[in-house]
Amino acid sequence: MLVSAEDMLKKAKAGHYAVGQFNINNLEWTKAILMTAQELNSPVILGVSEGAGKYMTGYKTVVGMVNGMLEEMNITVPVALHLDHGSYDGCLKCIEAGFSSIMFDGSHYPIDENVAKTTELVKIAKEKGLSIEAEVGAIGGEEDGVIGKGECADPKECKAIADLGVTMLAAGIGNIHGKYPDNWEGLSFETLEAIQQLTGEMPLVLHGGTGIPADMIKKAITLGVAKINVNTECQLSFAEATRKYIEDGKDLQGKGFDPRKLLAPGFEAIKATVKEKMELFGSVGKA
Ligand code: 13P
Repeated sequence: MLVSAEDMLKKAKAGHYAVGQFNINNLEWTKAILMTAQELNSPVILGVSEGAGKYMTGYKTVVGMVNGMLEEMNITVPVALHLDHGSYDGCLKCIEAGFSSIMFDGSHYPIDENVAKTTELVKIAKEKGLSIEAEVGAIGGEEDGVIGKGECADPKECKAIADLGVTMLAAGIGNIHGKYPDNWEGLSFETLEAIQQLTGEMPLVLHGGTGIPADMIKKAITLGVAKINVNTECQLSFAEATRKYIEDGKDLQGKGFDPRKLLAPGFEAIKATVKEKMELFGSVGKA
């Protein structure tokens, strides 16, 4: 059964480790992440962007697939199904469809509007027993043409949003989605420390987990990060393994064209990436 992310993140914050959010795109992704979490006895959060939700034909399909897998694969570790960077309407749709966690990304609104919309969604999410993530300080990405430093959130605004009763808080600390450019200045630990001091117990969320060096990840965890989002890195390892299979001509041998064979190396590559991240984040054995 899907669970809210609240308990797993409270435990992570208290135990000084982080739970990984791995974004899903299809059946292979979902199966690989769930299988790895179970094998490593780790809690896990499955992230679904609005785009990926559409790609999978809608949130109900996602909920059906994930719930089916939890049962058929005998998954016993805590699993949350979480909307990633949701709009207000997207949040309502996911609550309706049976997600166990949502993120409302109001970071592009003026702070007052972010506060107002987050307040409404906190109330709805709490009534239904869902966890809710909010965001302060937009987290850019290569695709938005952002080069160099990502935005840094205002710690006082973080405190204002944290006080609305959200379960976890994403704050920009110089992180961005996708691959980091060569001239990236790294995470702003100064900002993270200031946010942590004002928000106390609140589990903090680090987006853009792909490509952040291990030592920075570890330091971020010591400064209150309890959830780390990873998406691009699984896509890169899947693509690399699939490319190799095709370039080696394996699809041309025997029944190598069967999707269950063709997608197998990519599936294994996602598993390896998720394992590496869970070990780095310290969530192994914490289910
Ligand atoms: P990456 O794609 O950089 O790993 O970021 C994932 C993320 O933050 C999803 O919200």
